[in-house]
Amino acid sequence: MDQNIFRKRIRNVQNLLKESEVLLVFAAPQKIRNRDVEYKFRQDSDYYYLTGIEEEDGVLVLRRDFSSHFALPKDKEKEIWTGIRLGKEEIKKKLELDHSFDLGEWDSKISDILTNQFTLYHFFGKDSKRDSELLELISSLNRRLREGKFGPQRWEIPNFLHEMRMFKSPEEIEKLKESSRITALGHERLFRETKVGMYEFELESILESEYLKHGAWGGGYGHIVAAGKNATILHYTTNRAKIGDNELILVDSGAEKDYYTADVTRVFPSGKKFTSEQRTIYQLVLDVQKQAILDTRQGVEFNAVHEKTVKNLTSGLIDLGLLKGELSEILEKGEYRRFYMHRTGHYLGMDVHDVGRYFENGKSKPMQNGLVVTVEPGLYFDPTDETIPVGFRGIGVRIEDDVLVNGDNPVVLTSMIAKEVDEIEAMRA
Ligand code: GLY
Ligand code: MN
Ligand code: MN
Repeated sequence: MDQNIFRKRIRNVQNLLKESEVLLVFAAPQKIRNRDVEYKFRQDSDYYYLTGIEEEDGVLVLRRDFSSHFALPKDKEKEIWTGIRLGKEEIKKKLELDHSFDLGEWDSKISDILTNQFTLYHFFGKDSKRDSELLELISSLNRRLREGKFGPQRWEIPNFLHEMRMFKSPEEIEKLKESSRITALGHERLFRETKVGMYEFELESILESEYLKHGAWGGGYGHIVAAGKNATILHYTTNRAKIGDNELILVDSGAEKDYYTADVTRVFPSGKKFTSEQRTIYQLVLDVQKQAILDTRQGVEFNAVHEKTVKNLTSGLIDLGLLKGELSEILEKGEYRRFYMHRTGHYLGMDVHDVGRYFENGKSKPMQNGLVVTVEPGLYFDPTDETIPVGFRGIGVRIEDDVLVNGDNPVVLTSMIAKEVDEIEAMRA
């Protein structure tokens, strides 16, 4: 993204801060996978949103009257091993900051910056070691009350930053469209190339390879490739099983490109066609999903979409004889949870389960233009439940698209990925 976007976000955040408030936003550390092997680095979403910097360990420190950053120092010897560091001068220019420091100066400078500031904003709860270091710093500053100085008296999570991230700008929508486009290439290859006898991990490798080939970081979350009854395990990421005859394959996977991820689920038969029970369930979920997408409109409460989805799935199950009794009673007692046990959607953006609040004062918030949400109803039939007719046992179906709230006209960012029964069967043939 254009540097000006990050500069502008920093200005906007500074304008939200009141006098005597300080915001700290920490970069992600490099995490150890095992012994001296590191995980592939992924920047912290909040830090990246404000800085666009992909280095570990930096800290952005903002006050209304003051913008600054702490960075790893330029160090020729270290840079030979781990790559070029931007260094404080470069970062200062890049973000047009008032001050830029080396991390080595942290202890002395941060005390000055926090002295006589009433509120400290920081995402407490991400890193407990850092949290306790900060609390120690705050109490040491507060031991100087006799000198007429004090440290922060109030520490708070900067939810205002997440409220900013919730609403996607036109540039961010473009990023999400690009992630969706790459995601479509992966899912499409699976529709065409999957064969009985392949292993789930072979499908996973096709997805990851397609994403990487198009410049994505990889999947924005662990790929779920679940054949047969594995599809009834909601967060199945083992992906080690062999694909059998007449199974459904559930694939929940999205590419993350430039820090924005798609989140898409598609389901298709291992052979050329759905069995009759599979098609019945698939069509029910699809009809309900399309209705939920139509309901994803400005002004509609987010939770209302979920409640209507629950109702539609439940009445479909009653029609099929898979649930027995009165609709209202089944809804009230929550009996549908045997088959539908998760929410219908969530916010999407830099994080797959993106930031932002769904409820305010106990009431579901109405959706507003610029939000991107997933719509992902599903039905799951326990493979071991003998009260379920045998043809339905072990079926797991979820259909998930990414939708931009846009007045009365939801924009389905992932609409290019086939989901109609005949489209899928045509690709499987
Ligand atoms: N892939 C996680 C989800 O669909 O929420
Ligand atoms: Mn999702
Ligand atoms: Mn998903």
